[in-house]
Amino acid sequence: MRTQVGIVGAGPAGLMLARLLHMQGIDSIIIENRSRDYIENRVRAGLIEHWAADLLTEVGAGARMAREGLLHWGINIGINGDLHRIDFQKLVGKRVTIYGQQEVVKDLVAQRMAGGGPLLFEVDGVSLHELTSKTPRIKFTHAGRAQEIECDFIAGCDGFHGISRPSIPDGVLSIFERDYPFGWLGILSESPPPDHELIYSYTDRGFALYSLRSPELARLYVQCDPDEELENWPDARIWNELGKRLGGARKLAQGVILQKGITPMRSFVVEPMQYGRLLLAGDSAHIVPPTGAKGMNLAFADVMVLARAFEAFYRGKGDERLAGYSAACLRRVWYAQRFSWWMTQLLHRFPNESAFDRRRQLSDLDYITSSEAAARSLAEQYVGLPLA
Ligand code: FAD
Ligand code: DHB
Repeated sequence: MRTQVGIVGAGPAGLMLARLLHMQGIDSIIIENRSRDYIENRVRAGLIEHWAADLLTEVGAGARMAREGLLHWGINIGINGDLHRIDFQKLVGKRVTIYGQQEVVKDLVAQRMAGGGPLLFEVDGVSLHELTSKTPRIKFTHAGRAQEIECDFIAGCDGFHGISRPSIPDGVLSIFERDYPFGWLGILSESPPPDHELIYSYTDRGFALYSLRSPELARLYVQCDPDEELENWPDARIWNELGKRLGGARKLAQGVILQKGITPMRSFVVEPMQYGRLLLAGDSAHIVPPTGAKGMNLAFADVMVLARAFEAFYRGKGDERLAGYSAACLRRVWYAQRFSWWMTQLLHRFPNESAFDRRRQLSDLDYITSSEAAARSLAEQYVGLPLA
């Protein structure tokens, strides 16, 4: 097989990149090691920044989101049970959209399958070759047959555990990382959420987040130990902890738990996000802790930059923008890293924290919930900074 851009991974990054290229008449082949059913049902993020929702609409994948997504013009910050609203509409005139990542994936996959170009599921043994040549290659097996794709470029959109980043020789990449001494236990429950908007709740028992997927479907998270076993969290314990961390401000309705999982927390960036003709985008190049919901949005921002660079190349404007791809992305990547770290350290309990640390968190929370300038800064970053 032969294509212009070989795309490894059909997550938000790979699917959106393929769509943006298709709209410019640039062909691509996407390969994905999981099944269609698996990627369409993997429960992950659910919050789309203002510009990213507009992007989904512009690429023609926003119709169902417009019907089923929820527009949120603010969030609540709970401080030991007292709720304070941050009003995005008043502060920055923008909103976020609540719409599950797996729904975005379904919409982009459906669009691709309806004539957007090849998308191969359940490929095995993917490996990348001759990355510094003008014809890098992807090898894999599909339906029991060995396959090879000769490409002009390869986009590594295969997430944190993919093979693209590890295909880059040792010593080329600088790694910047931080682990956090806690994780999030997340559930999806058939119950109305405690509020129609999100509640980020700071409490002496630890952090909790009350989100939703619809008025009847709650998405709820509690801070837990990083290597906690799910079996230590029977449903009754989860509901008890969620109730206590909500405090008295709202009522918590319980319901059937449809899905349960533990997410570890990590900040991670590689620089540069490219090597030869391999360009990394999304989680393959960086991970943020989930507080603030930047992961999927950042993946979209990377591929916007990458698609523009490919467009310049194929219109005969040379490879300057491709050479500058990593540098063009990293400013936003580090803004998102800083914001996600800041939200995380602000809201969680840490194992070895001092009384000073707790007072400082409370002072910071007091500041963002009482100073308009501080609230505006939070709002501006939360709804998503404009793309450069
Ligand atoms: P991915 O979505 O990971 O997509 C990569 C794709 O590549 C996958 O489909 C994978 O199957 C495929 N792949 C991997 N290896 C190969 C291979 N060798 N060959 C071919 N294909 C391969 N973000 C938030 O903002 N809020 C959240 O609550 C949140 N929760 C999360 C929970 C979990 C468990 C995880 C893992 C992530 C979560 N994130 C969350 C982060 C967010 O989901 C990611 O930032 C987003 O998915 C990044 O998109 P991506 O396309 O870069 O990577
Ligand atoms: C969701 C996840 C987040 O990490 C966040 O900050 C907001 C919302 C969610 O899954 O709904």
